[in-house]
Amino acid sequence: MGMVQDKVVVVTGAGAGIGRDFAKAFAANGAKVVVNDLARDKESGQALAESVVAEIREAGGQAVAAVESVAEWDSAHKIVQAALDSFGRIDCIVNNAGIVRDRFIFNMSKEEWQAVVDVHLNGSFYMTRAAAPHFKSQESGSYVHMTSTSGLIGNLGQGNYSAAKMGIVGLSKSIALDMARFKVRSNCIAPWAWTAMTAGIPADTPEEKARVEKLKKMESAKIAPLAVYLASDRADKVSGQIFGVRANEIYFFSQIRMMRSMHRGDGWTPEMIADEAMPAFEASFFDNVPSMKLTPWDPV
Ligand SMILES: NC(=O)c1ccc[n+]([C@@H]2O[C@H](COP(=O)([O-])OP(=O)(O)OC[C@H]3O[C@@H](n4cnc5c(N)ncnc54)[C@H](O)[C@@H]3O)[C@@H](O)[C@H]2O)c1
Repeated sequence: MGMVQDKVVVVTGAGAGIGRDFAKAFAANGAKVVVNDLARDKESGQALAESVVAEIREAGGQAVAAVESVAEWDSAHKIVQAALDSFGRIDCIVNNAGIVRDRFIFNMSKEEWQAVVDVHLNGSFYMTRAAAPHFKSQESGSYVHMTSTSGLIGNLGQGNYSAAKMGIVGLSKSIALDMARFKVRSNCIAPWAWTAMTAGIPADTPEEKARVEKLKKMESAKIAPLAVYLASDRADKVSGQIFGVRANEIYFFSQIRMMRSMHRGDGWTPEMIADEAMPAFEASFFDNVPSMKLTPWDPV
């Protein structure tokens, strides 16, 4: 028996990168997998999702392809419908599909903002919403969403992506609260992996080159065991949490809570805030650093 035996799992953006490894790991652990991706091989024109389905079937697993975009309400519903049509139910959505359109915020176009928010944040909501009535009526189900340290901690030139990835954390928290009464869970993973997405990171300065060399050692297949665990019944008490995987390291992230408080019975003026509140708070301020500054060591 696999860890997710007979569960029906949709993995979005599973034609390549981390999602492809997710789809293969879910199938190897007994799941029936809907492999979603809208991309096609540039030369043959074959849908990447279909190649991954072929790989899974060759290895003895069960999978079907859904060549649709997560970034539209209707097509996201078609992806969930593919699970129902092919396997008769749905047990887990892995919101993994993603794109980047990196640009410093002062140059970012409306189109660059919109495209990234549409795939990551809107796509995660559409997929969530399409599965939610099924999870509610069967009183079971789980969501695994991909967030990023670009949002959780910060990164340069990724305002669209960081905002969408923090939005996904808020979405996951809301799902965990709204659907706990139906035994539905929702968690986030922040991965580090060398994929087409990270291969586009600029490597011009020595610092950037060093970062890219480290990233190259981070295999995308290392993220999959955590996703499989989170979708399994062994994780039935785990919801609303944020985890990370970086090669052989696994992380549990803190979440935002009130840290310091000051109270004045007669309220605050702007001057009082400057004179009293900020001096008390500023010892606890966080440095604005890109996420790579917090993981300077080599994970492998
Ligand atoms: N690689 C990393 O280090 C890293 C770090 C943090 C977060 N992430 C997140 O992990 C997830 C997977 O990233 P990856 O590195 O494997 O990227 P990737 O580019 O290798 O794969 C993403 C896949 O999503 C597909 N996709 C894009 N738009 C889609 C759409 N509208 N509908 C369906 N599929 C679509 C692409 O075709 C591609 O196959 C993403 O959500 C990404 O933001 C990755």
